[in-house]
Amino acid sequence: MCGIFGIVKKEEDNLGAILIGAAERLTYRGYDSVGMATISNGKIDLRKDVGKVDSVAEKYNVGEMRGQRGITQLRWATFGAPSQINAQPHLDSDGDMVGAHNGNVVNNIELRQQFIAEGLNVRSENDGESCVHAVERYIKKGYEIIDAMRLAYGDLKGDYAFVLAPANDDKLYALKKGSGLVVGIGEDFTCLSSDLPSLLPLTREILRPQDGEIIILGHNSVELRAITDGTVIERDPEIVTETMDSVQKGGYPHFMLKEIHEQPQVARELHNLLDDSPDIDEVIEKMRNARNLYLVACGTSYHASLAGSVSFAQLAGRATIPVLAPQFMPQYAPTVTHDDVGIFVSQSGETKDVLNALAAAEAKGMTPYGIANVIGSTLTQFTNSCLPLGCGYEISVPATKTFTNQVYNFIYLAYKMAGKDTAELKVVPELMEKTLEMVAPSVADLASTLDDVQDMYTLGYGATLPIALEGALKLKEITYAHCEGMLSTEFKHGPLSAVTENYPIIFVAGPNDIPLIISGINEVTARGARAIVIGPDDERLRANANELIVIPDAPEEISALLAVLPLQLLSYHMSVARGYDPDFPRNLSKTLTVD
Ligand code: AGP
Repeated sequence: MCGIFGIVKKEEDNLGAILIGAAERLTYRGYDSVGMATISNGKIDLRKDVGKVDSVAEKYNVGEMRGQRGITQLRWATFGAPSQINAQPHLDSDGDMVGAHNGNVVNNIELRQQFIAEGLNVRSENDGESCVHAVERYIKKGYEIIDAMRLAYGDLKGDYAFVLAPANDDKLYALKKGSGLVVGIGEDFTCLSSDLPSLLPLTREILRPQDGEIIILGHNSVELRAITDGTVIERDPEIVTETMDSVQKGGYPHFMLKEIHEQPQVARELHNLLDDSPDIDEVIEKMRNARNLYLVACGTSYHASLAGSVSFAQLAGRATIPVLAPQFMPQYAPTVTHDDVGIFVSQSGETKDVLNALAAAEAKGMTPYGIANVIGSTLTQFTNSCLPLGCGYEISVPATKTFTNQVYNFIYLAYKMAGKDTAELKVVPELMEKTLEMVAPSVADLASTLDDVQDMYTLGYGATLPIALEGALKLKEITYAHCEGMLSTEFKHGPLSAVTENYPIIFVAGPNDIPLIISGINEVTARGARAIVIGPDDERLRANANELIVIPDAPEEISALLAVLPLQLLSYHMSVARGYDPDFPRNLSKTLTVD
């Protein structure tokens, strides 16, 4: 997830050190490239490359950079591979304006073609460069920069924030639309950044621009203008008193809780990314025509693949084979032919088990595609094309937002394969927001009643089976209690013998399977179990379960996706109540690069 920072001083100063410091503070967001630009006496000095902040800073002597204004950007590749040319900031055609962005310009490809046709000098594939040219094209037509930005806003689709520094000027100009941007006010300087923590060591006087606002920073002035008509907006600054740690977590006590609450927004962003993906049609075509279609992954990504498999079957009538990556080798690799297609799914894109399966599949001639969050990871490099997850950096070891975006990605692909209108899915982020709001109090209450529990089950059926498995993994991962996920109908084939008085069993009920789930509930409550149900507001569930956690009404696959949110929250609360740190559970690592 990219980050931008900009600063305006009264006079020329040693900005290199300030830009390095700000970039270091943005690194927790995740990045593959870094760049710095300073502007001094009408001249732009731009240094950028792929790599870590310290190595790029050392290689290009960033510490010596001086100027009255400066910009730094950390890039997390979405449009264009990680490379020096795609790294930000970017120059305009003549090299007399520099700028950088954070976010996604979803019509980037189309805009680049327009800029090239208009004779602008497009150097990279990156959408940050499109922000610069989108303003430049109107300046070239004679518009003042503010009006040029207002017009550019109409052209740039997606969620983003960008900052520009024209060389012959003494101000920075920024625009916010959907991505974070905060302004800091200091003595004889102003600055802005994608997030608050990177500003705090410089100043605690903060101004928060809103979406649809232009920000004009002078060394001792901050002006906000409405993008609609250019009128000046009055807003008072505030003084921030929180600690750096709590600010980095967005005010949440843990990254996991922050990432749980980021899910609706990243789903929204993923939808835009997929709508604009140049690879989707090819992937769908290959998947549709494959002899066998494998979904290969580990852990949470495997559960998302199981959910994908149900979506492909139910929505598009396409059979798939979901498989845990290490089991792919003995069970399927010997049978693979050139007519088979594999989708390799991984948050990190570095899981060794998945990369081993990929190598085995490729050796047998399979066509490999990927779904990964970390662009530039090994998986993105060694698959024919890799669809994005668009989650930004997921810091907490338990995967949350990457799981829901993997599931969302599969539902989107299944819709496309079925010829259904993917615009219908645009309600999902709102439903996720509603779910988080609806379940928060009941889940917190439920967690407080499970303090001493060391053993439990989560049961699902059809589209909710993968959710039950994922809920069980989350509970195991961060509460250290044993929890087994299982097909609800299988419970009577053995595990039923574990049931004693008050034994907790969580059922995940889909709207189409309520009678079946009710049978399961009665089998266990008749033997004294405590049946907790996550499902739609249904009288039958209410009458049969001990507790019902209600989620919004939605079609089957979407209902299942919503049902994972209370399970994530439940695991989180139980973990915290037990005194554990859910972000960094013992013995586990976020990226498993070993066999
Ligand atoms: C999920 O909460 C876990 N941390 C783990 O199961 C993870 O999903 C698994 O290791 C696979 O990782 P990947 O998605 O990066 O390949």
